[in-house]
Amino acid sequence: MYDYYLGGKDNFAVDREAAEQVLSAAPEVRILAKENRAFLGRAVRFLAAEAGIRQFVDVGTGLPTQGNVHEIAQAVDPSARVVYIDNDPIVRVHAKALLPSDGTTAVIEADMRDPESILKHPDLHRLIRFDEPVAVLFMSVLHFIADEYDPYGIVAAFRDLTVPGSHLALSHITSPAQNTGAAEAAADVYKNRATSPAVLRSPKEIQALFDGYDLVEPGLVYLPQWRPDTPGTARDAESVWMLSGVGRKI
Ligand SMILES: C[S@@+](CC[C@H](N)C(=O)[O-])C[C@H]1O[C@@H](n2cnc3c(N)ncnc32)[C@H](O)[C@@H]1O
Repeated sequence: MYDYYLGGKDNFAVDREAAEQVLSAAPEVRILAKENRAFLGRAVRFLAAEAGIRQFVDVGTGLPTQGNVHEIAQAVDPSARVVYIDNDPIVRVHAKALLPSDGTTAVIEADMRDPESILKHPDLHRLIRFDEPVAVLFMSVLHFIADEYDPYGIVAAFRDLTVPGSHLALSHITSPAQNTGAAEAAADVYKNRATSPAVLRSPKEIQALFDGYDLVEPGLVYLPQWRPDTPGTARDAESVWMLSGVGRKI
């Protein structure tokens, strides 16, 4: 569905039908998806170029598209290493076909609702040195984790494996400031048609995911407001009902 919002071709009829239902309830979802990819790009560039991070764990990778994490990080340092994790087997197949064969990347098919299956995975430990800073990314994925699966515990399990100076970057849908009911209607489609329901969380609930981290400037903000490439372009930020932030482990 996300690939369809982004204008990609790697989707099936069943994805397109459900995505069209979401778009008729909330046409802005297409903008959300594009703004989310743009945030991912700015955040990874910040992490590689300014925070000096050379190791990335991207949880809930999605299908490869333009501006993948390793491409952005390796533009700063070609030796940067990235482990991609997704529970969708199609993501693994596409990623394996497209990833460079130079040993700097790996893809793991695993479900983050069972974080131990990821944290103990040999491919994770083959690429990532946990005695050096790591950036863990949860981009547009934690809203697919219902409270019963403890998204806070999942984020904390990764945090506890990393050293101070490591980073957490995430984006998460929230209830819009001007509540038109569109976000709830879109979430309803996920409940009925998708593999995971979508959970809208409040800014306070999303902020709590950064427990143990100091948010870097500008804090937890709407996607277009996070260090925009062109300042002043973030006018309609609140209509993009997804919050984003980057934190540094204390
Ligand atoms: C909206 S896409 C986000 C893709 C990418 N992170 C981005 O921001 O562009 C969400 C991805 O999370 C994956 N996902 C959803 N639930 C997951 C889970 N429990 N474990 C691992 N991956 C999951 C989906 O398969 C999908 O590829």
